Amino acid sequence: MALNIAIFFSGNGSNMLNILKACNSGNVKAKVCLLISNNPHSNGLKQLPQKQKNVFIFDYEKHKTKKKVEEKILKKLDEKNIQLICLAGYNKILSKDFIEKWKNKILNIHPSLLPAFKGLNAQKQAYEYGVKYTGCTVHIVDEKIDNGKILGQKLVEIDKNETVNSLTKKILIQEHKLYINVLKFIINRRKYE
Ligand code: GRF
Repeated sequence: MALNIAIFFSGNGSNMLNILKACNSGNVKAKVCLLISNNPHSNGLKQLPQKQKNVFIFDYEKHKTKKKVEEKILKKLDEKNIQLICLAGYNKILSKDFIEKWKNKILNIHPSLLPAFKGLNAQKQAYEYGVKYTGCTVHIVDEKIDNGKILGQKLVEIDKNETVNSLTKKILIQEHKLYINVLKFIINRRKYE
């Protein structure tokens, strides 16, 4: 049975679109049953095929509290029988309660080699620090930011003539490959559990 996944995104949505494509083509044996964005103007939303179903926008600005939004999201996850959540550029921090309910079932991708350069603008942080190599990480989400168990990483070299922009693009290419690899690994592991 295919794994039922939900993808949460906020901006460009390139990771989301890449995972969606891989699942739809059968390259990853998972079914994208739910797409959630907090941003009604997300670029990723605009790029989704017209026929794409199960897309929901939960605009935090339109809710009194985070708890209220999360209650709605939790309900949707339940309705769609979601087994795994993939955060893919989701710019909202999930509450401790939410993470506890979905313990070990939320993945995130971060554009650095964790535990280095946590938080925002990780590519810029690495560039300005002057490291020679950086990369990206897929990890399990726990109650601390960019902190949970690391499931996979990819290395990216910072060239002499690199700019933050070129570095960000290079990392993103690796992010797309990494997320797919990690999903395949998780799905494969399920077979033996
Ligand atoms: C990626 O760099 C991801 O690592 C970070 O946010 C960015 C999202 O990019 N968490 P996209 O929206 O998937 O293109």
